[in-house]
Amino acid sequence: MASTEPLLSARPSSEISHDNEDGYARTPKKPAEKRGDWIKIGLGVWASVVTIGAILAIVVCSTRMPRPTDDPSFPPKGKRNVVFMVSDGMGPASLHLTRSYRQHVVGLPWGDTLTLDKHLIGSSRTRSSSSLVTDSAAGATAFSCGLKSYNGAISVLPDGSPCGTVLEAAKLAGYKTGLVVTTRITDATPACFSAHVNLRSEEDRIAEQQLGDYPLGQMVDLMLGGGRCHFLPNTTEGSCRADDRDLVKEAKKKGFHYAESRNDFDKLKKGKGLKLPVLGLFASTDIPYEIDRKDVDYPSLDEMAEVALNALEEATKDSEQGFFLMVEGSRIDHAGHGNDPAAQVHEVLGYDKTFKRILEWVEKHDAVLVSTSDHETGGLAMARQLHETYPEYLWYPQVLGNASHSSEYLAARYREYTGTGGKKEDEFLKTELLKKGFGVEDVSEEEIEKLKAHKAGADWVFADIISRRAQIGWSTHGHSGVDVNIYGSKGTDRLRGNHENTEIGEFLADYLEVDVHAVTKILKEKGVGKQDWMGKGLEELQFEALAQAEAEGQPGKVDLGEHFHKDQIDTYHGDFRKRCLH
Ligand SMILES: *[C@@H]1O[C@H](CO)[C@@H](O)[C@H](O)[C@H]1NC(C)=O
Ligand SMILES: *[C@@H]1O[C@H](CO)[C@@H](O)[C@H](O)[C@H]1NC(C)=O
Ligand SMILES: [Zn+2]
Repeated sequence: MASTEPLLSARPSSEISHDNEDGYARTPKKPAEKRGDWIKIGLGVWASVVTIGAILAIVVCSTRMPRPTDDPSFPPKGKRNVVFMVSDGMGPASLHLTRSYRQHVVGLPWGDTLTLDKHLIGSSRTRSSSSLVTDSAAGATAFSCGLKSYNGAISVLPDGSPCGTVLEAAKLAGYKTGLVVTTRITDATPACFSAHVNLRSEEDRIAEQQLGDYPLGQMVDLMLGGGRCHFLPNTTEGSCRADDRDLVKEAKKKGFHYAESRNDFDKLKKGKGLKLPVLGLFASTDIPYEIDRKDVDYPSLDEMAEVALNALEEATKDSEQGFFLMVEGSRIDHAGHGNDPAAQVHEVLGYDKTFKRILEWVEKHDAVLVSTSDHETGGLAMARQLHETYPEYLWYPQVLGNASHSSEYLAARYREYTGTGGKKEDEFLKTELLKKGFGVEDVSEEEIEKLKAHKAGADWVFADIISRRAQIGWSTHGHSGVDVNIYGSKGTDRLRGNHENTEIGEFLADYLEVDVHAVTKILKEKGVGKQDWMGKGLEELQFEALAQAEAEGQPGKVDLGEHFHKDQIDTYHGDFRKRCLH
């Protein structure tokens, strides 16, 4: 693609007022973008664990948080690059889990820490506009737009209107942009930087927008991750699109270099000499967990980040603007949803390794690295009381050290088992799966029976078998509301201490001196009259979700009045006795 003039230039420093109310240079918020009395409804869904998310609403108060005093050296002058890392679903307990595991298994002293630990600068409060417990969509909207929205929102506000993102603002100001993930590139976190739809489940539409089929045109220069199925026409095997659009073909036509296998990945030559734009979709949906992944089949997060850094650096070497890159350790969250501590340890180790690589790059360039989580997942607790008697103070990392596969992998192997039942099946479970996969040799008859009773979805039974032995606790298969850590390189002092998640989004835009509100304005102006570019309307989606819940046999009559709270944060209505998951 020929380089074009930036549509929106970065604000020159001279225009920045240093005496605004909170001491930071920012374009004043337009009235329409102020956190107002908007009331909207969101739907949070996570594939197989949660059938239907809470549908919530709230009045958001526009309380402004106290801000640190002005720092005249921020933002720095000259060329700038931002790498923003998201450890999806990683709460503080995951750090203790992973650090202790590594000390034990590798034989390191108790003072040994992860690279992340050495760069802890603060913590982030994660609630969304509709709930005290956010989902990834509202969480990432806080980062991308710097604004609160409802669970399920992909860079749209509670009134259903789009909000400009830091990636879009950066691109329009002449920066190059990239997204690197281990889940679907159309999943909530990457989607929030590069698309605008009312609900995260509109992944077909998200894929189209990521390739430039929306009012702003092509905004992302590099995408690496999984989620190929949303780019393939429904006439092809391996497609999960509802229609017959061939987005891979469309991307190639637009000039994207396309890669879809390990072999293709190797041909990217670590990003050296790689021409943008690039679309790399290395798995149909998720890239397998680190604990299950084979190098010969799939690239790691760290390898993909290496390609992105090299390619973006080279593409901006003669430019005044650098790049904005978002890198997500997407599946820390999945291990939390699955309550699988062994899988999580390896996801966090992979993330820490990637953080180290990026930090080394950032320290040698005019750049900052900010890493945080959108929320915690699983309510992970580094202790578990198994009996009524007073518990011992311990948990056992060695149990996790014996595991060579995730519960997701073992459950999939079990589903594929077509051998005879009875003793043969017991033996398969005990030897092939539990002993070889988990290193567990003391499985009980009761546990075997439980696995057999849940053969179609035994993931959580496997996960519970290993969690109990390691004496690790989980309070939910969903998310929790605990504050999450912020890590930062030099130049991120403004994020020291405890912050609202939206302040992280504001920091990213302010560091690059780009204006997300100007992008909001363009989106609104250019979007008018473009039928349906943001997907179906909220109302339509709500009814579809309800119909689906009914079809999936949710007990009780589904009734809009009971399930949707429009004028307040979701209130208590007897939920404690609603449903029994296990
Ligand atoms: C595939 O997409 C076409 C057009 O978008 C649609 O008419 C057709 O019903 C779809 N087929 C399936 C099997 O979903
Ligand atoms: C780990 O595996 C070894 C070899 O199978 C076994 O002897 C040991 O008891 C296991 N440790 C734990 C904590 O399960
Ligand atoms: Zn998340």
